[in-house]
Amino acid sequence: VGDLTAADLKGKKVFVRADLNVPLDDNQNITDDTRIRAAVPTIKHLISNGAKVILSSHLGRPKGVTPKYSLAPLVPRLSDLLGIQVVKADDCIGPEVEKLVASLPEGGVLLLENVRFYKEEEKNEPEFAKKLASLADLFVNDAFGTAHRAHASTEGVTKFLKPSVAGFLLQKELDYLVGAVSSPKRPFAAIVGGSKVSSKIGVIESLLEKCDILLLGGGMIFTFYKAQGLSVGSSLVEADKLELATSLLEKAKAKGVVPASAIPDGWMGLDIGPDSVKTFSDALETTKTVIWNGPMGVFEFDKFAVGTEAIANKLAELSGKGVTTIIGGGDSVAAVEKNGVASVMSHISTGGGASLELLEGKELPGVLALDEATPVAVKMDK
Ligand code: 3PG
Repeated sequence: VGDLTAADLKGKKVFVRADLNVPLDDNQNITDDTRIRAAVPTIKHLISNGAKVILSSHLGRPKGVTPKYSLAPLVPRLSDLLGIQVVKADDCIGPEVEKLVASLPEGGVLLLENVRFYKEEEKNEPEFAKKLASLADLFVNDAFGTAHRAHASTEGVTKFLKPSVAGFLLQKELDYLVGAVSSPKRPFAAIVGGSKVSSKIGVIESLLEKCDILLLGGGMIFTFYKAQGLSVGSSLVEADKLELATSLLEKAKAKGVVPASAIPDGWMGLDIGPDSVKTFSDALETTKTVIWNGPMGVFEFDKFAVGTEAIANKLAELSGKGVTTIIGGGDSVAAVEKNGVASVMSHISTGGGASLELLEGKELPGVLALDEATPVAVKMDK
């Protein structure tokens, strides 16, 4: 991120939008701090260059001010990871916040309260965006997980605060999910899973254009089996997507279709079996780039996690051999983490909806706004 590195940050007030939307249990304990850890490199860079960091995020989907969605439980973990005491504001705009900003030392971090406590955030109201913008001299968007939302703190703020640049995390996500996918080292394999074909149509269509090998798994596969006239027993089938499945199979024919065995009546497919694992592993053997989105089975149950685990392990093995391995968000990230192989992958996306939209080839409003504000090294596949 040329601009962020080069910018003269000393003494500057920097409004950083991060996605700190982490899961909390009933006692407000963080159950997965991945997104906080992912936000740290950008914030540390700003701190060490003497900037005054005004940090903003949403948490959950509150309707108005809701204590259970306060960002307060994040302060200890954030302070711990940054190695400084983070100051927390009780609001995200207004005189109290302005006072705290004024007293912020160089290298200090002020965490604003949940920006979604204001309905103006999701409505992207310019007056609200302007108030957020007025707190700072520079905007850094590092909230990849929210980049598909045109909200006041992701998109609106760029109209009032220039320059607006991408943070390290946002840039890395774009480098892998757009850069590596659009101009991959070949052979390039895409593995798409998940329960419903309807939620992955755009991803399959888009990746089919780019990849050399497409491997499909998860519950969605039965709609494809049915479309091929195979018996699927009681497995999940989306009857209204059969025609679409047929047309996708036609398009995929040039790339080779893997035959599947029938499932007897009364049985339900809940995972890929050993034959598919072998077929998938063999197909992946010579690849140079692999992207994976969506589990192969109902991996939340150990019994049906075998196929997903085997794919996670295969990708870990390929990573070790220098293959670019990208885990494209959501459930496949959870699967890789459950298997303890997350750290060896080239990239693990912190976005759910945002990664899906990127993989579908869509442009994200949070990123486009940055392009308008300041040219950053973002190559969008238009
Ligand atoms: C996510 O968890 O996917 C992001 O933080 C966006 O959250 P949202 O779907 O509530 O906008």
